Amino acid sequence: MRILLIGGGGREHALAWKLRQSAHCQTLYAAPGNAGIAQVAECVPLAAKAIPDIVAFAKRNAIDLVVVGPESPLIAGLADALQEAHILCFGPSRAAAQLEGSKAFAKQILAEVGAPTAPFAVFDDPDAARSYLRTRFLEHPCVIKADGEALGKGVFVCETLSDALEAVEFLMVERGLGTAGTRIVVEDRLYGREMSLLCLTDGQTALPMPPVRDYKRALDGDRGPNTGGMGCYTPLPDATPALIEAALRQIVRPVISEMARRGTPYRGVLYAGLMIQDDQPYTLEFNCRFGDPETQVLMPLLEGDLVELALATIEGRLHETSVRFAPRAAVCVVLASGGYPHEYRTGLPIEGLEQAIESPNVLVFHAGTRTENGQIVTAGGRVLNIVGLGDTVAQARENAYRAVQQIRFEGMHYREDIAAHG
Ligand code: AMP
Ligand code: GLY
Repeated sequence: MRILLIGGGGREHALAWKLRQSAHCQTLYAAPGNAGIAQVAECVPLAAKAIPDIVAFAKRNAIDLVVVGPESPLIAGLADALQEAHILCFGPSRAAAQLEGSKAFAKQILAEVGAPTAPFAVFDDPDAARSYLRTRFLEHPCVIKADGEALGKGVFVCETLSDALEAVEFLMVERGLGTAGTRIVVEDRLYGREMSLLCLTDGQTALPMPPVRDYKRALDGDRGPNTGGMGCYTPLPDATPALIEAALRQIVRPVISEMARRGTPYRGVLYAGLMIQDDQPYTLEFNCRFGDPETQVLMPLLEGDLVELALATIEGRLHETSVRFAPRAAVCVVLASGGYPHEYRTGLPIEGLEQAIESPNVLVFHAGTRTENGQIVTAGGRVLNIVGLGDTVAQARENAYRAVQQIRFEGMHYREDIAAHG
């Protein structure tokens, strides 16, 4: 098959690496890709959001299957545009991607099916939001969320009423995130451990992948600002079969059934962001795609053929399919540019990549990299994902951090506590 992968981060490098191993993959293009993806695919300079250009490219190049990494093109309707052009797309329709595109929509579906999630209210008017917060905060701290797509910047976990009122001011009055914040969701704050549960679903059957723990804060000990993710690992000691089954029974399957009942079946990867509070899973959010960096630990453990899984998802055959993962561990450490998630420099040469991948238990997936005069240089905030594999999390962690020591670029920073405390 001729396959086009959309995106250019660490998630997409992991997907490209796995797609390349498929017996079905004859030609692999990536738009726009990065320096690592260029080692396994032909990169084409198309932005992930340029839907008409992507469809035109796919038609011109007789693409059979498009695999979409990021959420933006899905929320904007890439899968629908490809379907109209009779090209297979691994990723949900625009209507189904609303589970990520609108937090109010996701909460309403969760409420409709009675799935566990924090109590919430939706507001279009800042005065109404303020008066709700003044009462609610007497009993419970709240979280303020921009309804629309906000590239991870739309959630404010508030300690005090004044923090919450400030978030309302920023989103609804100053329009700090543009139209994303004209509507907000206010929900009770939950406390516990987070878990990313990614499932393949064809609209009826859901096949879970091993839960992953993602580290969002920039600094050790979960301090510092939020980032796109500084690392992750799997398997999780606290992700018992009973907990996963509860999440499937109470959250994932009812939501999938409800989407199908509404005539907008969800086909693709449904990523449930969960908070485990008192041994019970609560839904924080849905994502309509693979996670980044979760994919960087899942793809190396996935046994079987990703193209076959994508086709079974698209064609509604997951009930006769199984998804198997090696009973091993994987730990991903993100190497970021100095200053990230704030301002950082790019174009800095990266040394040590060859030495790092000499071990069979290490994989390096590129995120923000490009090639300049034959030298791989930094090109983004998150630069590289170093993945260590092992029979235990401790071994995988050791392998990852040993490889990290071999890589150098000016200003490089990373967390030292990924997978350190379970
Ligand atoms: P979301 O994009 O909705 O998952 O929110 C981003 C992050 O904000 C989550 O991964 C959590 O760390 C945090 N968060 C979101 N909702 C809540 C909540 N109700 N209680 C506590 N933390 C939350
Ligand atoms: N790891 C968080 C995300 O992919 O949204």
